[in-house]
Amino acid sequence: MKRTENKPSKLVIAGGSGFLGKVLRREVGRFFDEVVILTRNVRKPEHPNEHIVTWDARTVGPWTRCLEGADLLINLTGRSVNCRYTQENRREILDSRVRSTLALGAGVIAAEDPPECWINASSATIYEGSRDEPQTEDRGRIGNDFSMGVCQKWEAAFNDIPVPGTRKVILRNGLVLDSEEGALGELRSLVRKGLGGAAGDGTQRMSWVHRSDFTEMLLTAWKDRWEGIFNCTAPEHPTNAAFMKTLRRIEGAQIGIDAPAWLVKLGAQLMGTEAELVLKSRFVMPKKALERGFQFKYPNLEQALQHLVSDEKVVA
Ligand SMILES: NC(=O)c1ccc[n+]([C@@H]2O[C@H](COP(=O)([O-])OP(=O)(O)OC[C@H]3O[C@@H](n4cnc5c(N)ncnc54)[C@H](OP(=O)(O)O)[C@@H]3O)[C@@H](O)[C@H]2O)c1
Repeated sequence: MKRTENKPSKLVIAGGSGFLGKVLRREVGRFFDEVVILTRNVRKPEHPNEHIVTWDARTVGPWTRCLEGADLLINLTGRSVNCRYTQENRREILDSRVRSTLALGAGVIAAEDPPECWINASSATIYEGSRDEPQTEDRGRIGNDFSMGVCQKWEAAFNDIPVPGTRKVILRNGLVLDSEEGALGELRSLVRKGLGGAAGDGTQRMSWVHRSDFTEMLLTAWKDRWEGIFNCTAPEHPTNAAFMKTLRRIEGAQIGIDAPAWLVKLGAQLMGTEAELVLKSRFVMPKKALERGFQFKYPNLEQALQHLVSDEKVVA
């Protein structure tokens, strides 16, 4: 995957030390001659072609040199939303996304040989909760509460950066499913404890995507020259009750105690997180990707979960 015959291919991942970064490094990194991980902390490379470059995720510095000649820049930086939305955490959730995007923008603008393509993460949570009407890129309703507002400001910061030499893509990701980490890891742990019943009334939809389809959509966006905003979710959107039932069956769990909304709220408070992450209905359709002929390897939840659980057993 080289831009020119004699130039080594380069991938830069800002925020590449986190959950999605690790997925990409494992599944996509090998396609590039060089992979640069931009991180706030000195870390050891995990793969032979990796270089670690430090930055503060908010200001321009010597790190911008790593952007020179990159084929693809991916930005996954952002304080985790899995926390209580205190004033301080709200500020950090927003700032870490907007300021890292602006710092990268300044670096890309200043580059002599800027990245050919820049993919910035966003979230399917940018759309208002919907139980019966799929939210698409062109017709989805975007709201203004804290989480939707963060996504809007994050995307606006990215969209406003004038980089004519760099193709810009936003992926509005649903819950990316991997065997033991991320959201699925937490849900499986609940299921194994007998607590994997429906949350709230269970009718809220869940927008998810298998990790392989996430990485494949990202690579396709780069290789097929997509530009603009794309929903990165599987085309099937089970209710929370159906999702948990499928997961219980695959895990062989005999029972799964339901948690009414008040209990989810109490539990979230005790666990230092927000009930919204579980109770909001996310019914997000990958319309533009499907129109472009993108083929999901795991369009169906049962298949996706079967694969992730058996995959883990093979690895173990
Ligand atoms: N995981 C999903 O299913 C999912 C779904 C939809 C959207 N997203 C979005 O996609 C992005 C990546 O997700 P992820 O699950 O990989 O997140 P993650 O595991 O929390 O990793 C995010 C990275 O951001 C950096 N970071 C954390 N706090 C920061 C702060 N206060 N200031 C600056 N940088 C900070 C960290 O890198 P260093 O410590 O190395 O600097 C971290 O590795 C996030 O913005 C997330 O909201 C994720």
